[in-house]
Amino acid sequence: MALLEVNNLSISFGGLRAVGDFNLKIEKGELYGLIGPNGAGKTTVFNLLTGVYKPDEGIIKLDGQDITRKNTIEINHAGIARTFQNIRLFKQLSVIDNVKVGLSERIKYSLFESVFHLGSYKAKEKEMEEEALRLLKVFDLDGEKDILASNLPYGKQRKLEIARAMATNPKLLLLDEPAAGMNPNETKELMETIALVRREFDMTILLIEHDMKLVSGICEKLTVLNFGRVLCQGETKEVLADPEVIKAYIGD
Ligand SMILES: Nc1ncnc2c1ncn2[C@@H]1O[C@H](COP(=O)(O)OP(=O)(O)OP(=O)(O)O)[C@@H](O)[C@H]1O
Ligand SMILES: [Mg+2]
Repeated sequence: MALLEVNNLSISFGGLRAVGDFNLKIEKGELYGLIGPNGAGKTTVFNLLTGVYKPDEGIIKLDGQDITRKNTIEINHAGIARTFQNIRLFKQLSVIDNVKVGLSERIKYSLFESVFHLGSYKAKEKEMEEEALRLLKVFDLDGEKDILASNLPYGKQRKLEIARAMATNPKLLLLDEPAAGMNPNETKELMETIALVRREFDMTILLIEHDMKLVSGICEKLTVLNFGRVLCQGETKEVLADPEVIKAYIGD
């Protein structure tokens, strides 16, 4: 069974069909790329997968479970976490607190426990601190754990956003143009981070990207969107050699 299976997904805004008849199958452990020109519908697909938008038609299954009509929180609990095209962090919180926000989704204590600082509250607080630190170490951000997220350099903010998404313990990680706005060095480091996430957490990843070098370097499969439709789908090498794909990109 595929980890993610999407069938005939469609959504329109006003008269515009932003995504139509979209199909996708991602196996566990794959690093899968979603590419296409500006406005092709890539972010809209992420918004559909995470419950930000409800589709007009179609079915989304995660690990065999139908998540099509669920809301964003339910979908996160079911196992999908994401990052955003424009970084979204709690900029006035410290680096470690940003990760704890992600963790609090899974290490839960009741309001009663937290108000009265009962034993289990303290134990969970400690567990959260340790887990957050462990995650920050993986992303090489533990040295900056107490500084404000807004004071991190851009490349590290991107990393922190991925760390926070990973803190919710997802089955599938969605990354929306993580290399946008990065210089070549930051992009190279990001590629290494993505490869590391996959290795360390045995993660399945769906990546939206414009940077073809990044995509061809790390994704084994691709889906190309053009005007909200799947233009081509399959092994990276074959997709990038497809004349229709080349044409769509030259027209970009
Ligand atoms: N909430 C919305 N209301 C109206 N139109 C929308 C909405 N969301 C997306 N669209 C439209 O859907 C189309 C696809 O947008 P989307 O953001 O998914 O493209 P994209 O492939 O992510 O582009 P980019 O590479 O620029 O990020 C665009 O024409 C966009 O204007
Ligand atoms: Mg987008």
